Amino acid sequence: MRGVVLLSVLLCAAYRIALSATTGLLENGNFELAPSASSMNGTVVVGRYAIPGWENDGFIEYIKSGQKQGDMLLVVPEGAYAVRLGNEASIKQNIKVIKGMYYSITFSAARTCAQEERLNITVAPDSGVLPIQTVYTSSGWDNYAWAFKTESDVITLIIHNPGVEEDPACGPLIDAVAIKALYPPRPTNKNILKNAGFEEGPYIFPNTPWGVLIPPNIEDDHSPLPGWVVESLKAVKYIDSAHYSVPQGRRAVELVGGKESALAQITRTIVGKTYRLSFSVGDANNSCAGSLVVEAFAGKGTLKVPYASKGSGGFKRAALTFRAVSNRTRIMFLSTFYTMRSDDFSSLCGPVVDDVKLLSIRKP
Ligand SMILES: *[C@@H]1O[C@H](CO)[C@@H](O)[C@H](O)[C@H]1NC(C)=O
Ligand SMILES: *[C@@H]1O[C@H](CO)[C@@H](O)[C@H](O)[C@H]1NC(C)=O
Ligand SMILES: *[C@@H]1O[C@H](CO)[C@@H](O)[C@H](O)[C@H]1NC(C)=O
Ligand SMILES: *[C@@H]1O[C@H](CO)[C@@H](O)[C@H](O)[C@H]1NC(C)=O
Repeated sequence: MRGVVLLSVLLCAAYRIALSATTGLLENGNFELAPSASSMNGTVVVGRYAIPGWENDGFIEYIKSGQKQGDMLLVVPEGAYAVRLGNEASIKQNIKVIKGMYYSITFSAARTCAQEERLNITVAPDSGVLPIQTVYTSSGWDNYAWAFKTESDVITLIIHNPGVEEDPACGPLIDAVAIKALYPPRPTNKNILKNAGFEEGPYIFPNTPWGVLIPPNIEDDHSPLPGWVVESLKAVKYIDSAHYSVPQGRRAVELVGGKESALAQITRTIVGKTYRLSFSVGDANNSCAGSLVVEAFAGKGTLKVPYASKGSGGFKRAALTFRAVSNRTRIMFLSTFYTMRSDDFSSLCGPVVDDVKLLSIRKP
């Protein structure tokens, strides 16, 4: 009997570690556990281990929602607390993972001054500098994803502000940090493309209904949206059915960056064969109304798909037939226009793409 209890306690503990290592907020990932009063000087955090769960370096402030900065009221999306990273400041945490697997990090950040702000995310030996200059929400907070492959059982995640602003009170706010294991999908005999329905991707916070930005990853090796890369300057937004209208399954992408955000996948094809690329174009039910156009590219084939959006959800199918001219074909989508939400003119929006299929066909 005692053995059974002990075993179930052990299993329970193992399960908790496994769970915490694969999906969800990191330890004190939303910074709701505060430093002790003796580790604070006003809003400034004193000491490397003052914030439970984290190790910090440099000028870090612990911000309460509703705190004022000049004329600006700082509002925190997840809970009531966030941290601000001053010039060259960083926060880090060790995370138990499974060696050799892919993971994505999702975090919410807001810039506080007009300067060009960036964040440098590191899980050695990988690192990526994410621009947080363009704001995609009216709240000022955006969620960002970044992915890496593990080389050991415990990794150290570092979020670093490489900025050197004159005003030390400038610097990005970080509110919530989560992790999710990625299972890179394989093509099947029903679809040559990988992750063609975008079902596999980064963690989406249940409480922040503004999707997750997949940043351009020109210099990174790993995509938080397995199979796909964002090839241009601006991010693509990853959305879920809990907060948006999604054509198929639980996830989709919204092309929020106009011609500056191109989503692409390079796939194997056989030279001379004819292929049919089909996909859904719609809107996310987020007041993104107007004449939306998605441009699809495959080999030398292109297709413009107009979609008259009322901003209240819905989609249609489109298809492009092309002959492969190479044994690798780039499939790419972008939005022709920039669009703003009609309920809230400060945020960019765009057409939704989902349920992409690529198959070879007999000559039509
Ligand atoms: C608290 O910060 C002020 C400057 O803002 C500094 O003068 C003071 O020495 C600090 N106190 C401690 C205990 O570090
Ligand atoms: C980002 O951090 C990594 C690791 O600390 C470092 O090698 C890299 O130079 C940093 N990049 C910038 C732009 O600060
Ligand atoms: C769009 O959102 C509204 C309100 O949130 C909801 O009632 C409606 O069912 C949604 N429509 C679609 C197509 O998802
Ligand atoms: C196709 O792939 C082979 C190697 O797998 C390569 O030698 C050849 O040049 C490729 N052909 C084209 C047209 O890309």
